[in-house]
Amino acid sequence: MKVDVLLGLQWGDEGKGKVVDVLTPEYDVITRFQGGPNAGHTLEFDNKKFVLHNIPSGIFQGDKINVIGNGVVLDPITFKKEIDGLKAQGFDLKNSLFISKKAHLILPTHRILDAASEAAKGKTKIGSTLKGIGPTYMDKTGRNGIRVGDILTNFEEKYAALKEKHEQLIKMYGFEYNLAEYEQGLKEGIETLREFTLIDSEHELNRYLKDEKSILAEGAQGTLLDIDFGSYPYVTSSNTVCAGACIGMGVSPRNIGEVYGIFKAYCTRVGAGPFPTELFDEDGDKMREHGHEFGSTTGRPRRCGWLDLVALKYSVMVNGVTNLIMMKSDVLGCFETIKIATAYKMGDAVTEEFPFELPENLEPVYKEMPGWNCDLTGLKSEDDFPKELKDYIQYLEDELEVPITIVSVGPDREQTIVRE
Ligand code: GDP
Ligand code: IMO
Ligand code: MG
Repeated sequence: MKVDVLLGLQWGDEGKGKVVDVLTPEYDVITRFQGGPNAGHTLEFDNKKFVLHNIPSGIFQGDKINVIGNGVVLDPITFKKEIDGLKAQGFDLKNSLFISKKAHLILPTHRILDAASEAAKGKTKIGSTLKGIGPTYMDKTGRNGIRVGDILTNFEEKYAALKEKHEQLIKMYGFEYNLAEYEQGLKEGIETLREFTLIDSEHELNRYLKDEKSILAEGAQGTLLDIDFGSYPYVTSSNTVCAGACIGMGVSPRNIGEVYGIFKAYCTRVGAGPFPTELFDEDGDKMREHGHEFGSTTGRPRRCGWLDLVALKYSVMVNGVTNLIMMKSDVLGCFETIKIATAYKMGDAVTEEFPFELPENLEPVYKEMPGWNCDLTGLKSEDDFPKELKDYIQYLEDELEVPITIVSVGPDREQTIVRE
């Protein structure tokens, strides 16, 4: 048995949560492998809407095992909030959600350090979600972190020692903060975590594979936010690419099967950083309005722009994508003409290769295609696709050399068309 990986090819929010939920019936186990509550994964079905931050999106499709892997950073406070919210709606996860002892804990002081660091950066701030992601991964690689398994012995002592270090750092920033408001929440969050089964997830996941169980790894963020391959430094602090799934779960690269690369039919980005095809005109406003492009975690308006084939080719390459999934095709239904960036012009040079940096003078070279200019949200089969949508799909498949196997035409689970 292999691990299939589903991950974002753009700047996050491609619709990963929706598609993981749709694909879950085909799998036994769903695993998150990186990121933390900076993620906001939205699922809609039966007229209900859920946004998940820490918990894998496989919890709503029957009796599946869901695992929070070692590569994740977990905030006990937001975790408890999420667990309590789901319980109130009839989803008790005590027997179906397992958590890696090696996942690192986000502490209140990590969140304060995130805010202090962003404030100190001023104009050059990353636009982080302020969930403490960067400082927690810094403590992990700096070999200072506290892991989930540490709550089983002497947690208070370990917490006090790390908190002291953090408070010195926060003072150096000269940042005002109030820790008391978080600390009761941390205590309660740790208690909630203790009620769950904490596992040696690398052993467990490899055992599942031996036992012929199928695993789907659910990525968070997107390739262009990857710490190594994204638009550095305007990135998150983890490896969001396919190789990150091996690290974040403890499975061999030889055990990776299909790689589902998911992208919007256009592009969005929240937070700061370069975005070559960003639109500042009414077309951008139309995308935001029709696509309800507001952050699932922070509520911030998402920046919108045309599809960027240069970036998408790069993402397909670094992930070894085997199947493409195109989301939010319905949103482009309000345009008579659609543009796709096929190259970048920088001064006199034109390149189709995603460069080391995306400079300010970069101008996308666009190809124009006729839009489908109609409502796709009621479609049930690809036979009903308008010609212009078929042409758009064909063009992208030719350019990317990977088949588009799923096309999404609305936020609901049912609004998903699997192509033959
Ligand atoms: P994720 O972080 O990749 O899981 O994506 P988000 O949940 O942050 O953002 C995707 C948003 O688009 C959510 O509000 C989804 O409900 C919505 N969505 C997903 N697929 C479609 C689609 O095909 N059409 C439309 N209109 N909305 C969609
Ligand atoms: P999902 O999983 C979109 C962005 C932030 C910021 C940068 C760094 O829902 O697709 P961080 O808090 O990680 O230090 O922020 O990354 N970002 C996301 N953007 N979707 C996400 O997750 C994101 N997680 C982080 O806006 O620009
Ligand atoms: Mg999201």
